[in-house]
Amino acid sequence: MNEEFHYKNGELFCEGVPVQQIAAKVGTPVYIYSQNHFLKQHQAIVEGFKEVDPLVCYSVKANSNLGLLRAMALAGSGFDAVSKGEVYRALRAGADPQKIVFAGVGKQPEEIDYALEQGILMFNVESEAELETISKAAAKRKCEAPIALRINPDVDPKTHKYISTGKRENKFGIDIARAEACAKRIKELKNLRLRGLHLHIGSQITYADRHAEAIDKVTPFINSLKKQDFPLEFLNVGGGFGISYHPGEGLPIGDFAKAMAPKIKALGLKMLCEPGRFISGNGGIMLTQVIYDKPSGDKHFLIVDGAMNDLLRPSIYQAFHLAWPVKSPGLPDGAALANNSPLTDKNLGKDAVTYDVVGPICESGDYFALGRKLPKMNDGELLCVFSAGAYGYTMASNYNTRGRPPEVIVDGDKYWVSRQREKLEDLIRGERLTPSETFSAKA
Ligand code: LLP
Repeated sequence: MNEEFHYKNGELFCEGVPVQQIAAKVGTPVYIYSQNHFLKQHQAIVEGFKEVDPLVCYSVKANSNLGLLRAMALAGSGFDAVSKGEVYRALRAGADPQKIVFAGVGKQPEEIDYALEQGILMFNVESEAELETISKAAAKRKCEAPIALRINPDVDPKTHKYISTGKRENKFGIDIARAEACAKRIKELKNLRLRGLHLHIGSQITYADRHAEAIDKVTPFINSLKKQDFPLEFLNVGGGFGISYHPGEGLPIGDFAKAMAPKIKALGLKMLCEPGRFISGNGGIMLTQVIYDKPSGDKHFLIVDGAMNDLLRPSIYQAFHLAWPVKSPGLPDGAALANNSPLTDKNLGKDAVTYDVVGPICESGDYFALGRKLPKMNDGELLCVFSAGAYGYTMASNYNTRGRPPEVIVDGDKYWVSRQREKLEDLIRGERLTPSETFSAKA
């Protein structure tokens, strides 16, 4: 959370809009985004890294809302895609194809062909086999495919093991020991143009020296490529800049820039980066409404209308998300996580309760917060789950045949519904009750 989400007169605002008004208009659960947060974070990177002329390619997987992608494209952002669908999405939002990079360990020929046709900036290649496939696709189109080699530098990003990608045991990138052999093969394959190197060592990284170490690890290889006359232009340092889920957890972008920019500059390369969470994470919240208060044994469950299908992160990563009532009369104006969390025990009121905040889904892992002390809440009251702008909606599903929630974009004192709540018809779209055509196993 940050100043874009703040309390005023004891209630939560997103920019200039009381979020309760949005809930009254579109119902709950609902994702609410501050457009200005996205733009501000983008700008912070552009300024923080200005000495290395950065191209920010926002990572679409973090939050792929079309309205937000459009605002980012208008602000000059590029995009990092990992599927044909994400390339399509970015283009539909108005992206410049020359600012799209395409990563992923399993790009398929059809996806590669589509991206070549669109004229993207480059493919981040993750294996020797992929070099061959891209080269073939480019030959077919009689063009040169622009590529970067994604190197696995074997660096520990010190983050959750599911979102660590730069250690040797991870499936991502080319083992640095095999990198020279790849360079040799690129020379042989006439339809490839090596434009840069790519690194992405993990997500939610809160130690700038991790990124710096990754750059150090690939520096000898970059120097060798230069000696071999490869016309390198870019060093893509990936994403991973961590944010504050807990107060004070994330790093200011200046700390990353200080550790990384001089190294990139010394290499004489232009910086490209692919932040997802840094731009979107604290730019979104999920509002949910209390359905039932359920004391049970020594537990006190607060059953809300949002669930793991809407926001999966607590269930699969045991991720912490701050949760707090939308109406919180005792809070000082301006209270927000960025101000070192005034949302602490002194704001709990006399009748605080230690809740397990859980959803309606039929799994015990369906929760937003366990053993969390909150002001006492009643049925029908709104609870805000903060820092839900990254990997929230994009990881939502229809599990338990629940419709996915709407997404609302706030810009100043205006808001609009950028994606509607899924309706019953949406939940069975593409299905049939009986066969329209039957295929026989026999020839
Ligand atoms: N570039 C590549 C190649 C990536 O794989 C990712 C994220 C990013 C950039 C953006 O990383 P960021 O700046 O957002 O850290 N679902 C998990 C996060 C998965 C990250 C996957 N890759 C979560 O909810 O924490």
